Amino acid sequence: MTDGTAWQHGLMDSSDARGDARNVDARNVDAVLSSITEHWSPRTVAVVNDYDVRVVKVQGEFTRHRHVETDEFFLVLSGCLRIRMDEAEVVLQPGDTYVVQRGLLHQPYAETETTVLLFEPSATVNTGDTPSELTAERRVI
Ligand code: NI
Repeated sequence: MTDGTAWQHGLMDSSDARGDARNVDARNVDAVLSSITEHWSPRTVAVVNDYDVRVVKVQGEFTRHRHVETDEFFLVLSGCLRIRMDEAEVVLQPGDTYVVQRGLLHQPYAETETTVLLFEPSATVNTGDTPSELTAERRVI
């Protein structure tokens, strides 16, 4: 422990072992979301082994896509998220979770501004197999 930062947050400093400083500082999801001005542009707030915890602000229709390699976890924080799939459409209210199975075509959309937490492998691209103008770079904060 050299700089005292982790000590102030009351957390163990594992940055030496990991070779970086990820996950050392406490994060506040509401603060991160309030700093986001674009829709469909996720921010990675934590890295858990090979997975990202991402938060995103959405409104309107997203690109219909699938993730060939992985399932995708959704937790709605505020608003209402609908996910259209071939066989069904789910409607997710705050507190609702849902897992889109790997390989399944899905199109998220939200009539009003909605905030969502995602949990998925760090290599996951938001538009999966269907690049579009909404494809976002991975942004770790
Ligand atoms: Ni997806």
